[in-house]
Amino acid sequence: MRVLLTGGAGFIGSHTAIALAEHGHSPVVLDDLSNASPAAIERAGRLAGVEIPMVAGDAGDRELVGRVLDEHEIDAVIHFAGLKAVGESVAQPLTYYRVNLGSAIATLEAMAAHGVDRFVFSSSATVYEQPGELLREDAPVGIDLPNPYGRTKAMIEAIVADAAAADPSLRAAVLRYFNPVGAHESGDIGEDPKGVPNNLMPFIAQVAAGERERLRIYGDDYDTADGTGVRDYIHVSDLAEGHVAALEALEPGVLTVNLGTGIGGSVLDVLHAFERAVGHELPSEVVARRPGDAPVSTADPTLARERLGWQATRTLDDAARDAWRWQQRNPRGYRG
Ligand code: WQD
Repeated sequence: MRVLLTGGAGFIGSHTAIALAEHGHSPVVLDDLSNASPAAIERAGRLAGVEIPMVAGDAGDRELVGRVLDEHEIDAVIHFAGLKAVGESVAQPLTYYRVNLGSAIATLEAMAAHGVDRFVFSSSATVYEQPGELLREDAPVGIDLPNPYGRTKAMIEAIVADAAAADPSLRAAVLRYFNPVGAHESGDIGEDPKGVPNNLMPFIAQVAAGERERLRIYGDDYDTADGTGVRDYIHVSDLAEGHVAALEALEPGVLTVNLGTGIGGSVLDVLHAFERAVGHELPSEVVARRPGDAPVSTADPTLARERLGWQATRTLDDAARDAWRWQQRNPRGYRG
């Protein structure tokens, strides 16, 4: 299928473009490049051995999306476009609602107007009202969440459900990512955070590279095996393959699945995996808990396995090794 990836030059999108091409599909990227580099798609194309067309533009521009759908004879859309910094969303809620909801609505409207009826949405485990262990897709989801970012994801899930109820031809999948980590095994594409990384593994990578003095461990007094927070870290290449599986399993209606490993990893587990990747200890200190952090958040991955025939296969050590290779080869990310 010819697949439009809105926001496709980002971390997950660029890896998904490779997975799509490797499965015989033809990715096309639309990205406003506000938080991504065209180099990611140029390199993804080289890695996949295909030309990946890239249109610079706003997925919130319905007419532009419609033109891209027509010009590239698109069969399906994977919607990544949106702002994703949890902390920033608290400071700039209106921007997050305008951009995230606006781009989803514009894309869905353009699809309806141009006869494209296959849609995969990049959602997040942050939509679960009660984070916890082995979360199932029927766990409570709502807008009573700790931040506007998560609320935009929950609202867009509701928009997709309503759009599918109104249009029986719409085939949609909602993918709830847990914690994406790692990089393509080549080391040529990876996570390229702007400024100080909010997320754990890219921060550790910069400590390992000597760019950050030490890892600050946000609390070691949680009710977990080693006291540090536990998450479900999924290798970005597994995540990318999950998108292909979802695309190929689309049926009328909406299928919502977790994309996680079902295996919990603590902050110390991630730190130690990275130390094994770099071959020496890394400096860290325990500091106060980060407000809003849940003790544990891991996926029950059963539904994805049953409905998509997909499951994650890569380990935390694979992710650490791949993230370190990306960091070493690209100390300034795509700006190098
Ligand atoms: C993981 C663990 C921290 C940094 C994110 C956001 C959002 C989502 C992915 C898309 C926690 C600890 C972290 C550090 C630390 N993306 N930590 N020191 O909090 O699960 O949430 O998930 O939806 O980006 O919701 O990810 O990587 O920020 O934190 O100790 O410098 O690492 O306390 O236990 P999180 P994270």
